[in-house]
Amino acid sequence: MALWGGRFSQGADSRFKQFNDSLRFDYRLAEQDIQGSMAWAKALVKVGVLTEDEQAKLQQAMEVLLASVQQDPQQILNSDAEDIHSWVESQLIAAVGDLGKKLHTGRSRNDQVATDLKLWCKAQGELLLGSITALQQGLVASARANQAAVLPGYTHLQRAQPVTYAHWALAYVEMLERDYSRLQDALKRLDTSPLGCGALAGTAYAIDREALALDMDFAGATRNSLDSVSDRDHVVELMHVASLSMTHLSRFAEDLIFYNTGEAGFVELSDAVTSGSSLMPQKKNPDALELIRGKTGRVVGAQMGMLMSLKALPLAYNKDMQEDKEGLFDALDTWHDCLDMAALVLIDLKVNGERTMAAAQGGYANATELADYLVAKDIPFREAHHIVGETVVYAIQVKKPLEELTIGEFQRFSPVIEFDVYPNLELEATLAKRVAKGGVAREQIEGALVAAEALLAKRAG
Ligand code: ARG
Repeated sequence: MALWGGRFSQGADSRFKQFNDSLRFDYRLAEQDIQGSMAWAKALVKVGVLTEDEQAKLQQAMEVLLASVQQDPQQILNSDAEDIHSWVESQLIAAVGDLGKKLHTGRSRNDQVATDLKLWCKAQGELLLGSITALQQGLVASARANQAAVLPGYTHLQRAQPVTYAHWALAYVEMLERDYSRLQDALKRLDTSPLGCGALAGTAYAIDREALALDMDFAGATRNSLDSVSDRDHVVELMHVASLSMTHLSRFAEDLIFYNTGEAGFVELSDAVTSGSSLMPQKKNPDALELIRGKTGRVVGAQMGMLMSLKALPLAYNKDMQEDKEGLFDALDTWHDCLDMAALVLIDLKVNGERTMAAAQGGYANATELADYLVAKDIPFREAHHIVGETVVYAIQVKKPLEELTIGEFQRFSPVIEFDVYPNLELEATLAKRVAKGGVAREQIEGALVAAEALLAKRAG
């Protein structure tokens, strides 16, 4: 039976009911709805609406219900209740009779749903913080295991300067660290309880909303009832954190998809995260990574959809807001899955150090080194840049890397080039020079790895 039958003389059209009902997705808020209801029942005792005895009976019935939904959440879907709030209430009425009907005193589904969703966001946020950390740990472990491997660094997807695999992996650790902090920040901001704001104007009972908030583990209560029941900023913020993090995961996926191509051959993905082709037996496709890249679109799309649904909504609650849940659930589930899948991809990822070294050595990636060498010999950088450009054109013509040119060949382009040029052109030398903070010198990378390991160990412990 619907919660609001009194004013209506005619039942809802079944097509409208199906269109309007939210139980098929908001059943995921069952635990939070019961948690909020337990706290509300206690608050009602303090304002004299329920006796201690009644509250105890309700509490007991809610504990039984909580255990039951934790064990089998899908059972809820067998009901034709309008939404999770109606479902919980109907279950309580079935358990304790008319007493169950008292629980909704002073409360509206508007403050109730706002509270449930924030509680859900808090719980989900904690899980996501854990998955971000786990992926960071996977990146750091992979960096350690392949610390020696050199990798060509790219700009414009042209080989630019050599870096290392560990440096590449640590770049993603940094991105995820910002995602972590953005998520923490969003969780902190949403940590206020709307319960006791009623439908829109506040509840007519003198509820101690601060105490009620603390009872549900919120940091405090919201300040304005109109805002409280119509605020979905946290939904948009979490979707934004997810979108940006998915963008990072998508770039990670794209890098590895490229590194895994036959042409590059820098890494080999494990059989556990790839699939074969039904037609071409030689193929091993990077499906896990492609799906991470592809699913980024739907997470970003969910955020845009939510913003559009909220735009121009008059205060306070409107049914449009029911549209917040499916997009949020899907965006956060997808982000969660992709974080976990990215960590799985790293577990058995093999880095082919010979291929990465050969690629880093080719492509004239040490041209900047030659220019720096000329600068050290007092040639202004712009001029040095020009000289090296001409030298590279020549080297391409004679099909030699720079380090294989003879001194005679070098001197056609600049008389200051001498035998001491060769050590400067060695790959390790190009890495070793980049000692400033954040650079690819081996000791810088070691320091960054130690710092990341310490941070993650502290977080996990
Ligand atoms: N199912 C609704 C939602 O998700 C619950 C709030 C309903 N409130 C109302 N006044 N109809 O938004």
